Amino acid sequence: MKIDRQPPIGVFDSGVGGLTVLRALRLALPAEDFIYLGDTARLPYGTKSPETVVRYSLQCAAALLARRIRCLVVACNTASAAALSALRVRHPALPVIGVIEPGAAAAVAASQSQHIAVIGTEGTIGGGAYQSAIHGLNQRARVTAAACSLFVAMAEEGWTDGPIAQAVARRYLEPMFKNDDAPDTLVLGCTHFPVLTASIRTVLPGHIRIVDSAATTAAAVVRQLHNVTKTAGRGHVTWLATDGAARFARVGSTFLGEPLHAERIEIIDL
Ligand code: DGL
Repeated sequence: MKIDRQPPIGVFDSGVGGLTVLRALRLALPAEDFIYLGDTARLPYGTKSPETVVRYSLQCAAALLARRIRCLVVACNTASAAALSALRVRHPALPVIGVIEPGAAAAVAASQSQHIAVIGTEGTIGGGAYQSAIHGLNQRARVTAAACSLFVAMAEEGWTDGPIAQAVARRYLEPMFKNDDAPDTLVLGCTHFPVLTASIRTVLPGHIRIVDSAATTAAAVVRQLHNVTKTAGRGHVTWLATDGAARFARVGSTFLGEPLHAERIEIIDL
């Protein structure tokens, strides 16, 4: 009998990329229930204006809150960069955790030289959120940042390894790492990029550390929750998307690392 069930943890992303974060959350909190919302009808967020991303993020949060959640994880770097403070202002009683601060903390902890490279979407890099978060932790850190927009489409297409993935990775990353005083740490500041890690690794000097925010965000959520579900067994995930259950299931399986079933994904309107 489950006597200590808490309301689920709400998680949203522009689409399927946030499943890399959900995967880490489920590893850290296996007995918790989650509601995952992928705003697949309006993906990508990374090329949209901050105002639009704020509006979409507030709508995603409202849809999750309507189903009763006890905390909100913004599992999208672009939405975390643009909308975290708007979400906290709109919902002051709701714990809201984004992926940027945990990613920045992981990078500062990993880097010896404190010269850190960050890659993400146009929105994330253009808004300077990682740069500010890293400087908030170490004022003297140097940050070299670049938007790598093509990686998003490649990850969705399943082109995560082989010559095309490596050629694109080389084109984006070689200029960042060619000098003697190049960064020693690379932050994957986009939910889609962890599935490209092997290809990215092949074009980087061997000593470069690669960090992403999935595991550190999960650790931040664990710290945030006062009551974690103590029942044994696997928690339940409710799947929501705004379009395309079949594509969500097919592409999302790669990001989640386990099969997803289209018939279990409810399509909702925001
Ligand atoms: N989820 C987005 C992010 O982490 C990538 C996909 C998009 O552009 O919507 O920035």
